Amino acid sequence: MLRTDQGQPIRIEDYRPTDFSVQDVGLTFRLFDGATDVEAIVLMERREGVAADAPLDLVGDELSLESVTIDGEPLAPDRYDASPDRLVIRGLPASGTFRLGLTTRLRPEANTKLMGLYRSNGIWCTQCEAEGFRRITYFYDRPDVLATYRVRIEADKATVPVLLSNGNPAEHGLLEGGRHFAVWHDPFPKPSYLFALVAGDLDRLDDHFTTMSGRKVDLAIYTEKGRAHESLYAMDALKRSMVWDERRFGCEYDLDIFNIVAISDFNMGAMENKGLNVFNHKYVLLDPDTASDADYAGVETVIAHEYFHNWTGNRITCRDWFQLCLKEGLTVYRDQEFTADERSAPVKRIASVRGLKAHQFPEDQGPLQHPVRPSRYREISNFYTSTIYDKGAELVRMIDTILGRERFRTGMDLYLDRHDGDAATIEDFIRCFEEANDADLSQFALWYHQAGTPTLTVEEDFDQAAGRLTLKLAQSLKPGAAGTGTKPMHIPVRFGLVGSNGQDMEARPAAGAEVDGDVIHLRDAEETVIFEGLAERPYLSILRDFSAPVDLKFQQRDADRLALARLDTNAFNRWRALSDLAGEALERAARTARDGDEAAFDPALADALVATATDEALEPALRAQALALPSESDIARLLGDNVDPDAIHRGRRDVVRRIGLRGAERFRSLRHDLAGSGPFSPDASNAGRRALSNVLLDYVAAAEGTPATAAASYAGAGNMTDRLAALSVLAHRFPDAPDTEAALDDFYKRFEDNALVVDKWFQLQATAPHAGALDRVRQLARHPKFNLANPNRARSLIGAFAAGNQVGFNRTDGAGYAWVAEMIQSLDQLNPQIAARIATAFRSWRCFEPQRRETARASLVQLSEKEGLSVDLRDIVDRSLS
Ligand code: TRP
Ligand code: ZN
Repeated sequence: MLRTDQGQPIRIEDYRPTDFSVQDVGLTFRLFDGATDVEAIVLMERREGVAADAPLDLVGDELSLESVTIDGEPLAPDRYDASPDRLVIRGLPASGTFRLGLTTRLRPEANTKLMGLYRSNGIWCTQCEAEGFRRITYFYDRPDVLATYRVRIEADKATVPVLLSNGNPAEHGLLEGGRHFAVWHDPFPKPSYLFALVAGDLDRLDDHFTTMSGRKVDLAIYTEKGRAHESLYAMDALKRSMVWDERRFGCEYDLDIFNIVAISDFNMGAMENKGLNVFNHKYVLLDPDTASDADYAGVETVIAHEYFHNWTGNRITCRDWFQLCLKEGLTVYRDQEFTADERSAPVKRIASVRGLKAHQFPEDQGPLQHPVRPSRYREISNFYTSTIYDKGAELVRMIDTILGRERFRTGMDLYLDRHDGDAATIEDFIRCFEEANDADLSQFALWYHQAGTPTLTVEEDFDQAAGRLTLKLAQSLKPGAAGTGTKPMHIPVRFGLVGSNGQDMEARPAAGAEVDGDVIHLRDAEETVIFEGLAERPYLSILRDFSAPVDLKFQQRDADRLALARLDTNAFNRWRALSDLAGEALERAARTARDGDEAAFDPALADALVATATDEALEPALRAQALALPSESDIARLLGDNVDPDAIHRGRRDVVRRIGLRGAERFRSLRHDLAGSGPFSPDASNAGRRALSNVLLDYVAAAEGTPATAAASYAGAGNMTDRLAALSVLAHRFPDAPDTEAALDDFYKRFEDNALVVDKWFQLQATAPHAGALDRVRQLARHPKFNLANPNRARSLIGAFAAGNQVGFNRTDGAGYAWVAEMIQSLDQLNPQIAARIATAFRSWRCFEPQRRETARASLVQLSEKEGLSVDLRDIVDRSLS
């Protein structure tokens, strides 16, 4: 039997081009309920230098082959071997093109993996990244095989009026038996992972956009029936993305038409298929009554992200999947910059860094560690990680910091020009920045290959008499699970010397490491920088804007940090000063809670938070970020080992309560002042006011110790943001209160017909940190609206509990782990990608105190001993245990 995918590691050094080139692909889909026939006609040619007897070796996945032809002639059975996952054909022409014809029969209704062609609420749709096209037909399903596509779709006209694929519409018409067809042509050569098809009875929102060169592009967003109006904000975000990409990067849209489709059952956030982006409906549909400010921000980001892929991903794609960060890291960087420009740069930076620390840092410090450009994988779906996306974006940002905005743009221009139409590599990308600017990024490139979070240690010494500041900077990188190198890297350290008047002092670097404007270029393991001519001791504002993804160790005096929290001209570092102080207070509180002591409480932090909350000079969204303390999992990461989540939880509660008590009066009156009037508007400034008001609600409720204020806030809520925030305070802080049950019931009854809101209802209960949490999620798993087959729903219960409920998941008795492991195993039968993703919640098991460490390991071992696990899940479980 021919087999391919046994989960054997794929290695970058084995890369070689295909034996045959592919020029053009013709696909015909005959859609019927129950079965779909796919006819592929692929124009191919043996490459020069390839042995004349080398067979054509194509990959499939769960396919059944109905027929195979070469130049229209049926192929004799002795010329090929076919299995569900491979097709090998011998005796093909030594030179010149030929047409390979294949027919496969698919069963989209039975496709629960949601990869390849499947059905979602009756709609036919595809997901091909990374390796889904092989579930449609046998192909060179790899990103370096670029071809033009012509796609014909046939279906029943009355029930399936909308027929979509990539590129521009070419033809459409009627067929016998009430059927119709449409033909789409995509003139831009693309890899198979960017292929898409959608067909169904869909509603549509129309618009158009005129590009910078004056071409008119038709825009449309397709939704399930009756929901087109919920995509107005997404359409607006799309047009703003198109304008922004022209202005910032000179990137213009290239087809006559751009379509987006919102789908209920979707494995990830969205997919950038050429000219036909397919979205998880969570990132398209919004309504003031049902969507929160976070949902609006999420839609804006994901719409921008997928649109930006048209250049960084589609026009320039990846040579192989080891280069995934080439499109993802760069595109995340671009969507972050878009949000910074559209909303608030410091608020966006704080949110991104919080996300990086919450998701990427633990990944980089545990068993699932891998470099931004990996050199091995067993299952590529498991490499759509925070390291590839978020750390990948940080690396692009560092290139920007090192070169400066203008030279960064010069490098991007060269990249977009030189590699248009290519399947490129990270080396190609870096070379463009080097050549365009005559720069040397060879040491910087280590960031792509060395996994782990470097530690950056800072020491300062001020000589008053001489007016001289000496900074000692040191970097180190511990060897981790990935087994990659630990050489010193090029770390850009943005800084400022803040005077007592709040102004940045003129800093004259006298000696030591290279200083370029406000950036120190740290290249060696240890370097010293000396600044002279300082009239007073400055407050050192280091690593401004988090200019490198490092673990900063700087024992800065509390008084200095409190001063920076008030004075720093860099808003990000104002936030970080407070966040570091809070983190340390929460660490101390967790330790004392573990030892059963009464926590000592320093009112200075509380006073600084109250002062920040009421500082009219700061935008409310920034104040909200400052007031939102590090989360329980942030505290676990700060503690590092021997973690006891119950102690963290108790300690944090205590700190929030005491801050609340100290600030109660001011917080209440500020909430009163912030209370909005007039109609709901989702813009960033109104969202910021709501964010501040709602973070204050938690302090007020903590101080009062009763659900009354949150219950009143729930009852009076005029929008989903306020409603959800109040409900969350009730469910998380007062899980057993009658007010909480009443509010949860009310919420469910109001919104039970809206799947996205029901997801919130599941998620909110799954993340409530209390002793009864496990019983609650067990019950919810039997709720009529729970559905393991829908990824959003599975994530909202199992994923939310495992990744977002420190206390419940990490119960000492191991029952939380056991339940999640059991659910994952059932889910794996339906959708291995989602099962594997949720299983990553186990990755930090070694950081816990001995009892939890043992029970978590036991659940992982039990999973690993099960027969018939998917390659996806086995990969995560094996690596987590290694
Ligand atoms: N390329 C997609 C993005 O950046 C990611 C993606 C969407 C994906 N669907 C997927 C990756 C399914 C793996 C499997 O947004
Ligand atoms: Zn992406």
